[in-house]
Amino acid sequence: MPIPNYAKRAEEAPTTWLSRWLREAEASGELNPTAMALATLDASGAPRNRFVLCKGVTDEGLRFFTNLESDKGIELARDQRVSVAFYWSILRRQVRLDGTVSPLDAAEADAYFASRSRLSNLGAWASQQSRPIETREELEVAVEAVSERFTEDVPRPPFWSGFRLRAESWEFWEDRPGRIHDRWVLKPGEEGWLIWRLQP
Ligand SMILES: Cc1cc2nc3c(=O)[nH]c(=O)nc-3n(C[C@H](O)[C@H](O)[C@H](O)COP(=O)(O)O)c2cc1C
Repeated sequence: MPIPNYAKRAEEAPTTWLSRWLREAEASGELNPTAMALATLDASGAPRNRFVLCKGVTDEGLRFFTNLESDKGIELARDQRVSVAFYWSILRRQVRLDGTVSPLDAAEADAYFASRSRLSNLGAWASQQSRPIETREELEVAVEAVSERFTEDVPRPPFWSGFRLRAESWEFWEDRPGRIHDRWVLKPGEEGWLIWRLQP
């Protein structure tokens, strides 16, 4: 969609806006304020969606973590284009981002992995995410086996890491009475971000 000629210079970057909405969603009592639907493209070009947790927003983009050999990991290695949506039901707000991901470097992934609970980290080793398994018991046995293998610290598995999403297009949405909602888009201009409204 072309940028309309009445687009204005945005007063703040969309990452700042999102950070504030995340803080407000958390304060509102939203159960999982950082949950975001992440759509990737499969080998045939069909979209596939699932939730992941947003683990930090900076000017550089949004971070999330996953198993690199999962369906999404394989899809992201093949095609880096993604679309993400947040929804906060208490504040009745939505944010959509469209962009591309790049892998985090090992040091950043290690630092985040080290901040997680032991059980989460054992689970990261034990679960061949997205692959079939016959029973839950097999999974529990696999967790027990890695627990015996790593009796002290759990190192980050080589197949587990994170991505940074850089979005070129952001859309913010806020519920208003009678479904006459507010929608606005931010896209990069020549000098900073440009902003304009969309019809609801
Ligand atoms: C609220 C919520 C948060 C989740 N967060 C993550 C996450 O941060 N990373 C992840 O790999 N899976 C997360 N999951 C699980 C994914 O939705 C998904 O089931 C899993 O990653 C496998 O996806 P795939 O087969 O498309 O790769 C989360 C699920 C929910 C419901």
